[in-house]
Amino acid sequence: MSGIRGKVVAITGASSGIGAETAAHLAERGARLVLGARRADRLNAVVEAITDKGGTATGVIVDVTRREDLQRLTDTAVHRFGRLDVLVSNAGTMAVSPFDDLCQDDWDAMVATHITGLLNGIGAALPVFRRQRSGQFVNIGSTAAYVVKPPQGVYAATKTAVKVLTEGLRQESGPDLRVTLVSPGFTHTGGVGKGASPEVAAAMIRQRDEIAMPPAAVASAIAYAIEQPEGVDVSEIVVRPTVQA
Ligand SMILES: NC(=O)c1ccc[n+]([C@@H]2O[C@H](COP(=O)([O-])OP(=O)(O)OC[C@H]3O[C@@H](n4cnc5c(N)ncnc54)[C@H](OP(=O)(O)O)[C@@H]3O)[C@@H](O)[C@H]2O)c1
Repeated sequence: MSGIRGKVVAITGASSGIGAETAAHLAERGARLVLGARRADRLNAVVEAITDKGGTATGVIVDVTRREDLQRLTDTAVHRFGRLDVLVSNAGTMAVSPFDDLCQDDWDAMVATHITGLLNGIGAALPVFRRQRSGQFVNIGSTAAYVVKPPQGVYAATKTAVKVLTEGLRQESGPDLRVTLVSPGFTHTGGVGKGASPEVAAAMIRQRDEIAMPPAAVASAIAYAIEQPEGVDVSEIVVRPTVQA
């Protein structure tokens, strides 16, 4: 199966930002969506906006740090649509702060969301993909995995782990599966600065408003990777605003 129409795509972190934009973008192109996030009201609004326009989407309350939640997400795809073609692991938190602030709960949340969350997705989807002898992982990294800037040390480390896990998975995936890393730069979403210390948040939001690209830029990069013919793996896309260093 190539193209986007008819593909069953599960997306984590679909209640806002890049995930919500990607859901809308893929729905317009005929994908059937299973959307996961923790905030029921935001997730329902995304599902409704898609179905109101004639698209196909189901919401599942998912905390990616919980293994059983990812299992429920992929089970929903298989029960409702009979298959799962793509898992977009997008859920993330950018609660960055200087090390001296010792925001250890935020460090733990970044490790749990980006690393454990990604592994939970792999654990849930890989057996489905192997059974089908087809499937695609699209993992959302960050340019922070390429250029480390203060105070993003922990965030950058966890996104570096996403990059490494994606490449390791790709090398083991064999001829039937596709594995893609999409690494966005500064993107105009509500997640920028969310949970960060006040001064850091203010600086990030200021910079976002000056230079960030729209989330549609990331959504179309994800769509590009998905729509390639079977047997063609777009392994890595870095998409950033031209002005970003
Ligand atoms: N914006 C940027 O500049 C930028 C740049 C590079 C990479 N990224 C990456 O892009 C991804 C999306 O970020 P965004 O900018 O779109 O921010 P966002 O609007 O805050 O979106 C983050 C999404 O992740 C979900 N999420 C967070 N923790 C979760 C958990 N434990 N379980 C399930 N869902 C969870 C949130 O939903 P709930 O709160 O409803 O669960 C939300 O839907 C992240 O991985 C981020 O690191 C963003």
